[in-house]
Amino acid sequence: MRLPILGTLILAASLLAVSEAQTFGSGLFPNFPFVACQRSQSAYKVASTVTSGGSNTYCFTLRVSVPDNCASYCCQDADLRKFELNVYRKCDISGIKLRATLDGAPAKTVPTIVEALDGKNDSTILRLPALGLNQSTADGVELCITLGPNSNGEGCLTLEELCVPPEGFPAGTCTTALFDTQNDCCPLSRVTVPPPSPPPSPPPPAGCSMCAYFTVVQTVPVAVPFTFSQADCDSFAATVSSGMDGLSIGAVVRPFELQLCSGSVVKVCGGLDYSGPADLLSATLENLASFWLEQALGGGTCPAYLLGQTISVNIGGDGDPINPPPSCGVSVTKAAACSLPTAADGPACDCNSRQRATPFAMVPVYTEKKGRFANTNMYCFDFLTIAPEFPNGPCGSTTTLAKVEFWVDDAYRRNLTSVGVQPSDATRMTWLAPSFATSGDLTLKVSNLNWSLSQARGARICMDLDKSVPMADFCLGKVPGHCWAALFDTSLKCCPLYIAST
Ligand SMILES: *[C@@H]1O[C@H](CO)[C@@H](O)[C@H](O)[C@H]1NC(C)=O
Ligand SMILES: *[C@@H]1O[C@H](CO)[C@@H](O)[C@H](O)[C@H]1NC(C)=O
Ligand SMILES: *[C@@H]1O[C@H](CO)[C@@H](O)[C@H](O)[C@H]1NC(C)=O
Ligand SMILES: *[C@@H]1O[C@H](CO)[C@@H](O)[C@H](O)[C@H]1NC(C)=O
Repeated sequence: MRLPILGTLILAASLLAVSEAQTFGSGLFPNFPFVACQRSQSAYKVASTVTSGGSNTYCFTLRVSVPDNCASYCCQDADLRKFELNVYRKCDISGIKLRATLDGAPAKTVPTIVEALDGKNDSTILRLPALGLNQSTADGVELCITLGPNSNGEGCLTLEELCVPPEGFPAGTCTTALFDTQNDCCPLSRVTVPPPSPPPSPPPPAGCSMCAYFTVVQTVPVAVPFTFSQADCDSFAATVSSGMDGLSIGAVVRPFELQLCSGSVVKVCGGLDYSGPADLLSATLENLASFWLEQALGGGTCPAYLLGQTISVNIGGDGDPINPPPSCGVSVTKAAACSLPTAADGPACDCNSRQRATPFAMVPVYTEKKGRFANTNMYCFDFLTIAPEFPNGPCGSTTTLAKVEFWVDDAYRRNLTSVGVQPSDATRMTWLAPSFATSGDLTLKVSNLNWSLSQARGARICMDLDKSVPMADFCLGKVPGHCWAALFDTSLKCCPLYIAST
């Protein structure tokens, strides 16, 4: 029984092939509008949006706009006589009722669907001639076409059924052509009924606006207040962003980004979606804040550049960096007050050792560099001038930095190869043999400086130390890694103490 059925199918298929071969179109002009004419550079076009007026009525809006720098007939003089659409051959059904209006008034003729004789196989067009428009009258004209079925109910009633879409475009996209009386110009437009705009999608959950603040304030007046650099800000922003992203209890709905980078405040904000209990969030953020504070302190103990200052890490809503308002019901504050050491913490001295006593100060950060020899490291201390606490006092009015003494373990005196001195007006560093006070005085003396204010501003003293001696061992004091120096005036009565760390 299988074979006869197969035979019938083959016969049906070949009949279909024969019927499909009954086509038309010379193929001379294979593309819409299937005649020789100027497709671009014209004063006319059809607006891309087609409105659907219901009852299978589709309205096209005509537009006039002369392209810049186009003096051709099509741009300047052509009238607008005929409207065409590229349509499917299957829509060429006898008896269908097509109607057209121009700005609501019946058009002079009815649209017709015809074969395109010089198109390719099956090319078909819908045509509405006798528009009678020109450049002064066409702009904004609404041309509506109603697609009605024939008495058998057949017909293409939607643009999806009617229009051959340009290659790659979805069903319902139509190509129009607008002809002048001479059929010289046929500007094309691609038009469609836009899909209904989707209902506005619910806005993404805003979550709570959450900010992390890093602040530094002076607890006592300090000679060289700390300021956040751009690099510090960027680094904190990255820390906060990754910390928030890593939260296991809430979702970041707006990425955390740097919002403020002033010298004393870093502000990093984002959005956090959290619906759990406030105390869980609070505990989590407290941990984060403590961790960030520790990082800001460079690992736990206060670095020299933060002495006399309080650094804090606060998390909460948008507002006061020190006391942020709660957000998601929570705000946390963590702070470390880095107290300025007292004179008792420093080397013994018989002079005014208060910071800011004289206009001379040491930068609270020293730098480590490659040493002068293969087995040495170099540590450099920088100097600057400041406003002294009592400018007219005996120390405040001094104008010479006579010598600098570092508080060091002189057991390592043989391990220091040399001391470099470079006031700001010197082009290079002068290397000197180290000079220590009497053994046991624990003092490295850099004497005979006699720097003026301007020489001290940007001056540098470097130590070339054997690599086997860590700087934290060489420098003495309660806090490992802090190096103390006394900056003497000529009278030797003023010797403000400064501390530097890496
Ligand atoms: C028309 O279709 C036939 C059969 O598919 C094909 O051989 C012919 O090349 C086509 N003509 C044009 C103009 O595309
Ligand atoms: C445009 O058409 C209107 C109305 O038919 C006519 O009055 C006008 O003179 C025409 N303008 C041009 C530039 O042909
Ligand atoms: C320091 O110098 C002394 C004397 O040259 C030497 O014996 C010692 O190994 C050096 N290093 C340390 C860490 O003491
Ligand atoms: C620095 O000043 C002191 C005291 O006035 C003087 O003895 C010394 O020679 C000066 N040193 C230099 C390098 O100018």
